[in-house]
Amino acid sequence: MKKDILTLLDLTKEDFLYLFQRAAELKKRHKKGIVDQPLIGKSLGLIFEKPSTRTRLSFETAMIQLGGSPIFISAKDTQIVRNEPVRDTARVLSRYIDAVAIRTFSQDLLNGFAEFSDIPVINALTDLYHPCQVLSDLLTVIEHKGEYQNQKIAWVGDGNNVAHSWINAASVIGLDLRLACPEGYEPKREVLDKVLSACCGTILVTNDPHEAVQDADVIYTDVWASMGQEREQNMRKEVFGPFQVNTDLIRGAAPDAIVMHCLPAHRGEEISEQVLEGPQSVVWDQAENKMHMHKAILEALIIGNHKEK
Ligand code: CP
Ligand code: NVA
Repeated sequence: MKKDILTLLDLTKEDFLYLFQRAAELKKRHKKGIVDQPLIGKSLGLIFEKPSTRTRLSFETAMIQLGGSPIFISAKDTQIVRNEPVRDTARVLSRYIDAVAIRTFSQDLLNGFAEFSDIPVINALTDLYHPCQVLSDLLTVIEHKGEYQNQKIAWVGDGNNVAHSWINAASVIGLDLRLACPEGYEPKREVLDKVLSACCGTILVTNDPHEAVQDADVIYTDVWASMGQEREQNMRKEVFGPFQVNTDLIRGAAPDAIVMHCLPAHRGEEISEQVLEGPQSVVWDQAENKMHMHKAILEALIIGNHKEK
């Protein structure tokens, strides 16, 4: 059955729990040298209209490790660049490959692709959401904290695509999420409105980073200017200064709090060198876990949940 991950609202709590368990299992087996290749003969297309190191490489290696083939589709070398309609590309690719991961600007374009696609479509980041990032980040939280429940999670910085996916996750699985963003850079109202009525967690939005970080177990930050916002970079540096995750800020958190960043990081901007390289930082585990989570996602979307077979 075709299932997409366009936003985390496409998943149920059971889907989240299954993916956490299966990604952890695949990771453990991989570390032991056990080869799992359920996707032999299957292929994953990757269309990336923005740069990527981690997401692209981790999806590609995930597919290879599972026995399948990743096919990187350079949009500028296809008819996409000559304005072939998205709905036509979606229908044609559906005849060749088994799933597609797309990184693009517009969530609407992604949704439009999925509407005409017969194969699973995975959001590999849009301006609005970065769902797979937060799935793998939750795996990292579980690894370091033993559970995602009872964790106070503080987002500090821009109310951006990654923040939006944390909001969705909070609403589906029930998280205690506090987001501290400068005034005017809070998460989009449409994203909050979509979840607040059905939310099973608690979501607090504040303009005070110290309030969000108070007693937090997890502190998360991301770049101040996302891809596509490069022209705002200098202006944002002024506004976001008090939101830097540094030793002073994290002093208010739980002593064993972990610090997370989806990367790429700008040392001296959203995070200090000392904190990024310090003992509370788990950023390299986060980067690694993208691959393990992507393996669980690809297996589930292409051939179904492991337990069900
Ligand atoms: N975290 C993340 O998505 O990184 P990339 O932009 O390198 O894929
Ligand atoms: N918010 C960042 C995430 C990068 C992985 C961006 O969209 O550029």
